[in-house]
Amino acid sequence: MSPVVAVIGGGQLARMMAPPATNLNITLRALVESPQAAAAQVIPTSTIGTPSDLPIIEQLVSGADVLTFEHEHIPAEVLARLEKILPIHPRPAALIYAQDKLLMRQKLTEIGIKVPRWQKAVSLAEVEKFALEIGTPFIAKTPRGGYDGKGVKVVHHATELTDWLQLGPVLLEEKIPFTRELSQLVARSSTGEFKAWPLVESIQQNGVCWQVIAPAPRTTPEVAEKASQMALKIATELNVTGVLAVELFETTGGELYVNELAMRPHNSGHWTQDGSATSQFEQHLRAVLGLPLGETDMLPGVWVMQNLLGSNYPQAAAASGEVMHEIPQARIHLYGKEVRPGRKLGHVNVPADEVSQAQKLANRAIEILHG
Ligand SMILES: Nc1ncnc2c1ncn2[C@@H]1O[C@H](COP(=O)(O)OP(=O)(O)O)[C@@H](O)[C@H]1O
Ligand SMILES: [Mg+2]
Repeated sequence: MSPVVAVIGGGQLARMMAPPATNLNITLRALVESPQAAAAQVIPTSTIGTPSDLPIIEQLVSGADVLTFEHEHIPAEVLARLEKILPIHPRPAALIYAQDKLLMRQKLTEIGIKVPRWQKAVSLAEVEKFALEIGTPFIAKTPRGGYDGKGVKVVHHATELTDWLQLGPVLLEEKIPFTRELSQLVARSSTGEFKAWPLVESIQQNGVCWQVIAPAPRTTPEVAEKASQMALKIATELNVTGVLAVELFETTGGELYVNELAMRPHNSGHWTQDGSATSQFEQHLRAVLGLPLGETDMLPGVWVMQNLLGSNYPQAAAASGEVMHEIPQARIHLYGKEVRPGRKLGHVNVPADEVSQAQKLANRAIEILHG
């Protein structure tokens, strides 16, 4: 019997689970927002609905072996009900730390993982007190529902948070003067098996991931070891199952702070589709099904992943042939999504001997795709 994996979410992450699912004869079922969703186009057994649509989700999971996610935005009541029906990976008790940045900061502090100095604020007075202690500017975040920099604000004056405070508690953080952002991607199976990919560097533009360099250049073995040990500790103590991305800030002197956690395949892991012995999408499926994890060794060279971000340009697919012609080593991944400014429409993975060369080729490939 082929295993059945239900996935909540119909974007590119669910879509990219389809190729490894096909290879392993795993039946994927995705909960998608519309028939045009990126995942719906390639997963014939898709169900249309939203993550709060319990009856629809009950249909989705009926007869499935496991439920997993491509995003975190699922109401707690829905998860509590589904937990009685089938195994869920990551488990809701772990997922909560990817859903709520306040709970995440609290938990990581508790287990001794280094994070920016932070505080929960419910009033302007508390924000003013934090500003006095920490100095300005500082960072404010909505605890839930944010992504791609939405829900993150650089604050110079407490009053900039008046609107947010009316909606509920706000997470305040010191602004870390990082030299770069890193990401440690790992997987932990429902059997407890653990594997880490090499540490990578991720570069954001306006809060959105733009480029990822694997492995992270100029990294000492000590920093790489520290990052994977942090991720191992987080995965174990939080009992995470599936792929876990630990977003990190590195400061001068190789200090590492955890920014946030994602318990699913992550943009910083897209390079693994072409540059690793096992892609994060296959690994996630293996992990949630309790199958042995695949090797995480890198293929030769350095790999640069660059996102195709939407602009006012026409659909990208038309220019794929031109990329193939000019940069044959570029691996193209398109999501079938309609173009909207800033939207993630696809990415390329490009190998080279040198980082600067891979970056140059990835840039050029994206430029061509933009048309
Ligand atoms: N404490 C901080 N200090 C400095 N920069 C930060 C801090 N928190 C977030 N940022 C910047 O904002 C980006 C988005 O924040 P993050 O919490 O990861 O939100 P999202 O859920 O949108 O990815 C980070 O990648 C980083 O560039
Ligand atoms: Mg982030």
